[in-house]
Amino acid sequence: MKILGIESSCDETGVAIYDTEQGLLADQLYSQINLHAKYGGVVPELASRDHIRKTTPLIKAVLAQANLSLSDLEGIAYTAGPGLIGALMVGASIGRSLAWGLNIPAVAVHHMEGHLLAPMLEKNPPSFPFIALLVSGGHTLLVDVKAIGDYKILGESLDDAVGEAFDKTAKMLGLAYPGGPVLAALAATGLPNAYKFPRPMVNRPGLDFSFSGLKTFALTTWNKSDKSKQVQANIAYAFQEAVVDTLLIKCRRALQFVKGKRLVVAGGVGANKRLREKLQQLEAEVYFPRLEFCTDNGAMIAYAGALRLQAGQAEATIIQPRPRWSLEELTVPT
Ligand code: KG4
Ligand code: ZN
Repeated sequence: MKILGIESSCDETGVAIYDTEQGLLADQLYSQINLHAKYGGVVPELASRDHIRKTTPLIKAVLAQANLSLSDLEGIAYTAGPGLIGALMVGASIGRSLAWGLNIPAVAVHHMEGHLLAPMLEKNPPSFPFIALLVSGGHTLLVDVKAIGDYKILGESLDDAVGEAFDKTAKMLGLAYPGGPVLAALAATGLPNAYKFPRPMVNRPGLDFSFSGLKTFALTTWNKSDKSKQVQANIAYAFQEAVVDTLLIKCRRALQFVKGKRLVVAGGVGANKRLREKLQQLEAEVYFPRLEFCTDNGAMIAYAGALRLQAGQAEATIIQPRPRWSLEELTVPT
């Protein structure tokens, strides 16, 4: 079954074709980073307009890459939420309309389910059950995953998501947008013992997170300093260590809680090198998607949609994006 996947929930237009027999056939991405850079963050209206410009050309590009025509497609998967409503509207309208025109099924995919299943696109995919650590710009979740669609949220951030905390801290330090990867790169030149930041909520029971205090800690430290380039790098280092350590501690706790031996890490912050390194300390098998499938992409949406369509999931032909949508509302496809 050849499925076209469309991702347009935020500032990346991702389109891909996944074949349930042959695997990933084509994958194209357009990032809006340059469009939003001068505003220091994503401008929702500009994002929607750019998705309109880019989605159709990217659909043509993936068809050409896979040497297929529209009539070869057997289903369409699009991100229906969570995300920016205008941006979601674009992918949902194009996906649904194209499916209607081609008389093939379409499926509304949950963006975080896409992230969660992205490691399945790798050569050595994890088997169920596993604990998923989902760390993106909008979410920080520890999920007990029993099967596709069987998700129980064990812990989440009570305030900023990890990616958001990276981005806001980077902005406070005067770093370029998008802050997360820029701060991570700078951290590599920081001195390890210059500062010690707290590990929030690790002394309390439970699996929830809180990252907004770390951001304030970074700001206070920065304002008290001489604001030199080396201090900036030292703060980046201390901030990243605190975040990564906290995630490691909570992942260990979640694995102990379910007596699990497998951890899947996904979402944009999953691309963080230090996090990938540190999680190897767990006595568990740890799975990551390749770097480009940690951040938003069409492949993960095509894949999640393909599994659901293959399992016979059928949906009414309505266009209904959901800017807020909990993973726990999903069901096992039948
Ligand atoms: O999953 P994603 O592409 O989009 C959302 O669904 O939010 O995640 C984007 C987030 C941003 O906050 C970005 O700064 C962060 O992931 N990010 C990183 C790194 N690469 C991306 N954070 C830390 N280190 C990185 N290497
Ligand atoms: Zn995402």
